[in-house]
Amino acid sequence: DGFNTRAVAAGKAYFGSATDNGELSDAPYLAGLSNTADFGQITPGNAMKWDAIEPSRGTFTYTNGDAIVSLAEKNGQKVRCHTLVWYSQLPNWVKSGGFDNATLISIMKNHITNEVTHYKGKCFHWDVVNEALNEDGTYRSNVFYDTIGPAYIPIAFATAAAADPAAKLFYNDYNIESAGAKSTGAQNIVKLVKQYGAKIDGVGMQAHFIVGSTPSQAAQTTNMNAFVALGVEVAITELDIRTTTPATAAAVTQQAKDYAATVGACKAVTKCTGFTIWDYTDKYSWIPSVFSGQGAALPWDANLKKKDEVYNAILSAW
Ligand code: XIL
Repeated sequence: DGFNTRAVAAGKAYFGSATDNGELSDAPYLAGLSNTADFGQITPGNAMKWDAIEPSRGTFTYTNGDAIVSLAEKNGQKVRCHTLVWYSQLPNWVKSGGFDNATLISIMKNHITNEVTHYKGKCFHWDVVNEALNEDGTYRSNVFYDTIGPAYIPIAFATAAAADPAAKLFYNDYNIESAGAKSTGAQNIVKLVKQYGAKIDGVGMQAHFIVGSTPSQAAQTTNMNAFVALGVEVAITELDIRTTTPATAAAVTQQAKDYAATVGACKAVTKCTGFTIWDYTDKYSWIPSVFSGQGAALPWDANLKKKDEVYNAILSAW
């Protein structure tokens, strides 16, 4: 019994975790990640991003991404491939290249075609475009938007679909987990891609939450249903729930409830098809490096010890 066993019993495709190449030499960590009772899916935290895959123009390096895919194959886990087009972790040759519209479209298409073809048949999901929106729901200024306009998004989806028709293609973002301008913006992206005649299968809710200010289960359910009404599925793709460190006992109790709210929302929505936490242990969480003084965001602590209260709350919410 575990997270994945319960999620699958509830009709979901998987419960999974992000991971990263540097962590795989930690044997106790690897054993936990490979326990398919808990994790039926993995997401490479960095290995498939543009700066890792095509650090210079036309030079593709797949070693780290391949290592994650091989591990998943060995364990019998699905892979959410992450991510093709994102303003961050984008090499300078793209970011500051000064390319004209046609050239940047061809660079983007070449990147997507090469990477999606390399992983054809191996990616259950692809996060095709990541974080294209500002908080007010308008398009985020980045080299793709500034050079190509909003069409870069449907072009990216159409290109990915051509390279691997079987992969489910996702738009992925944060702060779209409850109703508001940014969620509406993401719904408009779904409509845009469809209007263009390209395929979009789903929207990923990153869900990088804060203990005590996580959207309620009802708010998350309503929001997911707004996406489902547009003819796409949804997935929780990067859940973690951070707090001030060291975490107090009260914070951990609240965190357990907050995790249960997101599980409950996904459970309630048939078309919420999968659920991923952004690594499973505080030992390797990205939070402390980005949000100073924050952390303790995951169900296992920095010593790889299960937080029973949090773990059991997730388990029973399925
Ligand atoms: C994070 C990784 O976990 C870190 O290791 C890296 O330094 C920065 O990126 N949203 C995303 C993920 O879509 O790709 C980010 O991953 C976390 C926020």
